[in-house]
Amino acid sequence: MAQVPSLASTVHQRIADALSAALPEAGAADPLLRRSDRADFQANGMLALAKKLKGNPRELAGKVVERLPEDELLAGVEVSGPGFLNVTVADGAITRTLAARAADERLGVPLKEHPGTTVIDWAQPNVAKEMHVGHLRNSVIGNSVVKILEFTGEKVVSRHHIGDWGTQFGMLIQFLIEHPHELDHKDEQVSGEEAMSNLNRLYKASRALFDSDDAFKARARRRVVDLQAGDEETLALWQKFVDESKIYFYSVFDKLDVEIRDEDIVGESGYNDMLAETCRLLEESGVAVRSEGALCVFFDDVKGPEGNPVPLIVQKSDGGFGYAATDLSAIRDRVFNLKADTLLYVVDVRQSLHFKMVFETARRAGWLTDDVKAVQLGFGTVLGKDGKPFKTREGETVRLVDLLDEAIDRASAIVRDKAQDLTEEEIAERGAQVGIGAVKYADLSTSAARDYKFDLDQMVSLNGDTSVYLQYAYARIQSILRKAGEAKPAAHPELALAPAERALGLHLDQFAATVAEAAAEYAPHKLAGYLYQLASLYTAFYDQCPVLRAESAELRENRLFLCDLTARTLRQGMALLGIRTPERL
Ligand code: ARG
Repeated sequence: MAQVPSLASTVHQRIADALSAALPEAGAADPLLRRSDRADFQANGMLALAKKLKGNPRELAGKVVERLPEDELLAGVEVSGPGFLNVTVADGAITRTLAARAADERLGVPLKEHPGTTVIDWAQPNVAKEMHVGHLRNSVIGNSVVKILEFTGEKVVSRHHIGDWGTQFGMLIQFLIEHPHELDHKDEQVSGEEAMSNLNRLYKASRALFDSDDAFKARARRRVVDLQAGDEETLALWQKFVDESKIYFYSVFDKLDVEIRDEDIVGESGYNDMLAETCRLLEESGVAVRSEGALCVFFDDVKGPEGNPVPLIVQKSDGGFGYAATDLSAIRDRVFNLKADTLLYVVDVRQSLHFKMVFETARRAGWLTDDVKAVQLGFGTVLGKDGKPFKTREGETVRLVDLLDEAIDRASAIVRDKAQDLTEEEIAERGAQVGIGAVKYADLSTSAARDYKFDLDQMVSLNGDTSVYLQYAYARIQSILRKAGEAKPAAHPELALAPAERALGLHLDQFAATVAEAAAEYAPHKLAGYLYQLASLYTAFYDQCPVLRAESAELRENRLFLCDLTARTLRQGMALLGIRTPERL
């Protein structure tokens, strides 16, 4: 079905446009139209405008009312108070707009006219290490932002900048050389958990040897040199660690219901061939200078506690390249090869200084121009119930898988409790969808930059701002639609709407505008807030307006139509957050 471009404008927007058009002398002044309790909308813009034009706000407002064209959109406009306009929309206009949205499979969300290319850096765990709650955030937020941007028509390229390089591999590889069968699987399928426990075991054993045996330490250090020199045998063993880790990563992403494509995993090692050239270009252009042997970039506004400048170190004095050299090389790749016009990084806010310096360096070097936007979508810390960074009772970082398993267990218990006609298999499936949805929603419903408390009791609560609440609203609507039998959803613009229907309808009309806002600001929480309000307005509608027992066939069809559009909007909105909406719960 073709999408209808005119649907981009909501009833809200059309009224605002009509008000502006009625006062041409004001230029394109904003009428400041807001939803209101008194009427559907209130416009407060006449006050500021009257001040500017040195006129009387009530008179100005009166002029607007006189000049507004008589059309099917407005049921009434009144001047009130010092010069506000109270605007009531015609019932038929609401229903007709919704009918147009419902006829569009994209629910009236337009595709961008000039889509760009965004390269987004997200879900970047580290090889041979456990994934923790920080990796939950960059996976969940990144996944949602990808879906939201793609839905607007943007071309999106994902880059999973995994930590797969560094001196610690010397120790691991050397240990594997000396204990050759540690990562052999003899064609057996290894589970994610087994893979991680193999890696943990190797890590601990090699670490212990490294700390206690100086000869091993020396061999491990030489191994780093071999790795960096690209020695084939060394690289093949390094690859074994990467592959083993990927088994583990994929098992966690699978549990998280986040899809990662292998070709998008381009970790730190992926830029090795560019590092030397990146440094040469920076040094030749004078963007970076040698300081105590290291290649550094300095900034006027980046100082340490004692006021001395803190540089971005691109190459260490021993010749080694670090995190910054890799990120700078990645920028060159993303801008020049992938042709990005936006670079987005879903990374912990604690890395903000790093990105600020990296972006600034790339601008000075000319790799980032005014045509390319670079943004860090920085996320806050996951806290425990005590408000401190989330740790186990022993003070260790919490394993992501343990949290996910616990969420799934809790949710399964709730689903089982409520289940009427579900099989065990269905309970397990729904439990996973509800549990993972709960974890994702809790993360996505506060603005990314803020810290939040990981509180499973709250996350799986049936009441309040949770995904479970939204999923139940969706499932309840599906059950009504199933029970409706012969009666089919159909819009009837000739019918008057009850207050709860109007409120629900006007909110449904805002879906496209909300998606656009969430996309422009990389703000899934705006979409989450919209969906929560949608479910709440639906609940009020359902309490006040009988659907299956409506007085007339037309009323029943129109209410079923509102139910159906609400369900489709919830489903699409939740999908953009990466959350499933089971048909039955
Ligand atoms: N692997 C890093 C971590 O676990 C995140 C990488 C972020 N991306 C980047 N391009 N630096 O903290």
